[in-house]
Order: sequence, then C-alpha cells, then structure tokens
Amino acid sequence: MQKRFHTAFGTACLALALCLGLPAPSPAQKFKGLALTPPMGWNSWNRFACDINESLMRQTADAMVSSGMRDAGYRYLVIDDCWHGQRDSLGFIHPDPDRFPSGMKALADYIHGRGLKFGIYSCAGALTCGGRPGGRGHEYQDALTYAQWGVDYLKYDWCNTGKMDASEAYATMRDALYAAGRPVVFSLCEWGNNKPWLWGADVGHLWRTTGDIHDCWDCDINYGTWTSWGMLSIVDMQKDLRQYAGPDHWNDPDMLEVGNGGMTATEDRTHFTLWCMLAAPLMAGNDLRRMSPETVRILTNREAIAVDQDSLGVQGFRFMKKGDLEVWVKPLTGGDLAFCFFNRGGTPQRVDYDWKADAVNDGVSRTYVDFKHTEMKLRDLWAHRDAGTTAVPFRTTLAPHDVVLLRLTK
Ligand code: GLA
Repeated sequence: MQKRFHTAFGTACLALALCLGLPAPSPAQKFKGLALTPPMGWNSWNRFACDINESLMRQTADAMVSSGMRDAGYRYLVIDDCWHGQRDSLGFIHPDPDRFPSGMKALADYIHGRGLKFGIYSCAGALTCGGRPGGRGHEYQDALTYAQWGVDYLKYDWCNTGKMDASEAYATMRDALYAAGRPVVFSLCEWGNNKPWLWGADVGHLWRTTGDIHDCWDCDINYGTWTSWGMLSIVDMQKDLRQYAGPDHWNDPDMLEVGNGGMTATEDRTHFTLWCMLAAPLMAGNDLRRMSPETVRILTNREAIAVDQDSLGVQGFRFMKKGDLEVWVKPLTGGDLAFCFFNRGGTPQRVDYDWKADAVNDGVSRTYVDFKHTEMKLRDLWAHRDAGTTAVPFRTTLAPHDVVLLRLTK
C-alpha cells in the first residue's frame, strides 16, 4: 500500500515538474553511500580462476567467519568469472548447473545467513574474459536477475568490447542496476584503459586503475595483448591518481595476493600495508580454507585495516624517496597521520628519520603538519605497541622488502 502510494506520488511529482518546465529528476544514478570506506571482501579469481563451484563458495563463507575476517570488516564474497551457464530462450542467464546445482539464490541465502554479502561478476562485452556469456544487450535483464538472486556487488569487466565507449557502457549497467531497485556496489573493471578516475565517480563505487595483478613482488608478465603486473609495478602506477578517490568512489589497484604463495610473508605484509596506505579496496584473493597463521595475522590486522578504512577517505602518497627507501603518508581523520617506511630494495636499509626536518604539506587533503611545532605520539601497527613520539628521530633497520607502519596521534 505504502509502496503504491510512493509510486503514485512519484509519478505525480514527475508530471508536475514537466508541466512547470522543471528538469525531470534523473533516474540515472548509482546507489549512493554503499562504499563510504573502501569495500572489503574476497574474490575467487586470483586463487581459483575458473575452478569455482558452490561448495567452495560456502566453505569460503564459513572460513571468512571462523578466521575472524568477517569480524575484522570483510563483507563481500564475490564469485568472479566462469560461474555462468547459458542464457535461456528469453535471454535470462543461468548459472552453470554442474558447478552451482542449487542455484544462485540458494548460495546468496547461505552467504547472507553468515552475515556476509554476495557479489558476482559479468562483463560489458558479449562474452566475459573467460568466454562466458557477457552482459552486452542484456543489461536490464541481468540486473533484474541479480536482484532476484540477492546480489549485493557487481564486478563488471571489459573484455570483448571492441569500440564500445566505456563510460557509456558502464553507465548503462549502472542505470540497469538502479532500475532493478536492489542496492548493488558497482565495481568497474576496465583496467584504467579509459581513465575511469575521470568519469567513474558518478557511475560506480570503485574502478580498477591497472591491468591484472600477478602474485610476485616485482615481475611483469607480458601476454602480447595485455600484461599482468607485479605488486611493485601496480603500486608505482597509482601515482597521480589520488585526487580522484574518496568516500564512495575509490581507485582499485586490484585484489590482494596475500597468502597465495608468490611472495614471502614479509612481502605479503608489505603488499597489504601499501594497499592500506592507498585506501584500496581490500579484496582477499587466497584460499581462506587453508591459511597460515601469518596470513590470518596479516589479513586481520585491525590497526592496519583502520588506516585503510579511515573515514576521511584520503588516499596516501609517496612523501619521500631516497634510493630504495620510501616514506609514505596517509592523512587520517581527527588529524592523525599514517606513516609507512618502506624498503623496496634487496638490502637492509637504515632508517634515521628526523620528523622535524620536513613538514607534511598535502594539498589534496589540505593537511599541514610541522613537527617542529606539533609533537605526535607514535604507534607501531604491526608490532602493536607504542613507539615514542616525534620529538626524537625514528630509528630502525628495515629488512629487504619490509615496512614499518606507524600511526601518529596528537
Ligand atoms: C579480467 C579481470 C580479472 C578477472 C578476469 C576473469 O582479467 O581483470 O580481475 O576478473 O578478467 O576472466
């Protein structure tokens, strides 16, 4: 009854606006406010690629709860490419009946029953990157299907799109999701090809800035028409993008490789730390059913996660670089700062950092801190202990590829 009233009221308002010559309210918008901090969750692709099925998803949901990841903030469980079966004679998509025999609604119910949210993958082209049916020409129909299934998050890829216009194609899917009426976080995955940071904020909640990550510290794998990038390359490619990110619209440097074995535990920890400094979406990409205690410790470090999830929503930046030693800064809410000392090289680095030598002056967030006049307390977010103040230089030795992550508080 109430809904019918709202619909009738909406139609009357629209008619009145048109009669009065006022611009009609645009239906074209994303669901606002769904990602005020960077989305956190898990995605099947990095570890499982096309080898996915409903029992893996259910076990992963269970593991997300039992490992403590849900309580640390991870919410979205996203099935990436290859869940698809065929479209039926009316064009509706169905999951692969062998891999998802209980259907997507039942899987979504299971995931929701564990206090988590359900995500799915499709593609703006006629075929996904894995050659499954894509969304092109079926956007509104697919959005309705996803709403019926209980989907909360859609990652939308960019394979087989030919000369399609990216901002238009993604806006079509945004409008379709909005018309279907179920709030969905919309993740744009066009690898930064069409500068989504310039137009993505009105369209989605996050956009990939690069091609796919590869599970290594520093390697770029060239596949001819595309390259997958090592962790370090992805970090370097985030330069100059931070002014485009903020609450509800994030740069996405791709999903995490923590726990996948291509990097050492130290490198995994550094990878995670840098993603936190970048205010990146934290989408774990490992097998949650079989995690080492070290992997769990990394993924559930609440003090590091708090840096990522800080409500100010400012992406951090490389503040200083001396050879292989870098200092990164991320302004946080309440005047706090995150400082990351990062050794990207293969030999140990002495850190002897005189806070008073350089003020932090960040035009993007309008942050200015001169440690000559402002003393701040230090907390080491991996050692989980207080670490003095900015009154005296910070001294430590960083092992190769290691970081120290500090939170500075007044
Ligand atoms: C692209 C995306 C990946 C993944 C695969 C699936 O490469 O960038 O993240 O979704 O497609 O085929």
